[in-house]
Amino acid sequence: MGNRSGLIFSLLMSAAFLPHANAEEVSDATFRCLNDMTAVRHFYVDNLLGNIEETVAVANNPKGGRYPEGAVVQLVPSEAMVKREPGFNPATNDWEFFELAVSPEGTAIDKRGFAEVVNKFGGNCFACHVQAEPQWDLICDNNHGCAPIPLTRGMITAIQKTDPRCEPVELTDEDKANLKALQAALAAG
Ligand code: HEC
Repeated sequence: MGNRSGLIFSLLMSAAFLPHANAEEVSDATFRCLNDMTAVRHFYVDNLLGNIEETVAVANNPKGGRYPEGAVVQLVPSEAMVKREPGFNPATNDWEFFELAVSPEGTAIDKRGFAEVVNKFGGNCFACHVQAEPQWDLICDNNHGCAPIPLTRGMITAIQKTDPRCEPVELTDEDKANLKALQAALAAG
């Protein structure tokens, strides 16, 4: 094969293998320490196809917008949303929901799916997130129209800082008080 046809061949091959956020590609290894992701306000984003720029732009857009394929969004280590390939599940705007088990050894996917995934507290991810006004692409934040979660922003910060997959970070007295309040709330059920 001459140089020229070699080039055409490799272009064709790369087109055939254009990356997609396929089910096979979203695995335990997809997820990582929250601090290694990109922080946007109080949550974290990633993009499995490398499109972090557009992901951050949508997350920061005051008018909202649709997250690009491959986007990963997390508030706490154990829950994630991943934007799958276009048309994969129109009802959830192509978001797949994940309930994760995290430990110092890494991440294991506990549950994944679309409208059926529930978190540790029995709450259905989609049922809450679908309440977000349409321009927010199922992202709740604290003012997009979803019913609130029983976690204060202070508790969320403390949970993020104690992600067992990350290098330990120093907790402030406020973080420690928030973790205590969280434990008390969980124990009270
Ligand atoms: C009771 C309703 C409820 C349930 C159930 C719920 N969420 Fe959320 N989620 C929220 C709210 C409200 C926020 C925003 C909290 C804040 O910003 O203070 C949020 C935040 C998030 C975020 C950060 C981006 C955003 O939307 O603000 C992700 C990612 C997320 N949740 C994923 C999940 C996943 C995955 C599940 C299921 C395993 C789940 N959630 C279950 C209400 C819920």
